[in-house]
Amino acid sequence: MAASLFSGSRRAVLVHAKKMWEAGLVVASAGNVSARIPGSGLIAITPASIPYEVMTEDQIAIVDLESGELREPGPRPSSELPTHRALYAARPDIGAVIHTHAPHVSVLAVLRQPLPPVLDEMIVYFGGTIEVARYAFTGTDQLARNAAEALGDRAGVILANHGNVCVGPDLPRAFQIALTMEATARVYVAALGIGSPVALPDDSLLSGRALYERRRI
Ligand code: 13P
Repeated sequence: MAASLFSGSRRAVLVHAKKMWEAGLVVASAGNVSARIPGSGLIAITPASIPYEVMTEDQIAIVDLESGELREPGPRPSSELPTHRALYAARPDIGAVIHTHAPHVSVLAVLRQPLPPVLDEMIVYFGGTIEVARYAFTGTDQLARNAAEALGDRAGVILANHGNVCVGPDLPRAFQIALTMEATARVYVAALGIGSPVALPDDSLLSGRALYERRRI
């Protein structure tokens, strides 16, 4: 595959990585973003430890999903490559993965507290409670396994003492999940500070889940 065929995927990953940074979901070089390159068995993924402010399209790494090897010479891919690969392997339905350190989600991560469905829109976007993956150190294969297990068939997972990972059929929808999860966590954390959030009724959970299943394709 010629290098020019990757430029659209590299650009889309870079655009969404910068949006994530501009939205305040990460600072400096934290977090990472990847997307499948359709029909190729490859992903485009942000490089390790390069601040978004100066990150360029040619620094986006092209990686073989099966072997984890770089397809072209360039900067080292994100240290969370094991988690990205594990999620693509576990979920053939997803086309993009976004890892953030969004502030209110990170409060829940530090408390190791899941984000239950407390807002109508949440169940429709996320498919259910956002669970907390068992703790493992950043960048490890164990973290990758824990994240894939706790993600299940939903649109995101909280990483204990770390942040979250959001997934979607494509980059715009994974980014929408990342924004929505932080907005929901902000409401939930504020509600916990002054009272006891009330769970949605069962029939709303069922209706929301049915809508989630329809829109995640
Ligand atoms: P990378 O810069 O290697 O992607 O790491 C950032 C991060 O958030 C690790 O969890």
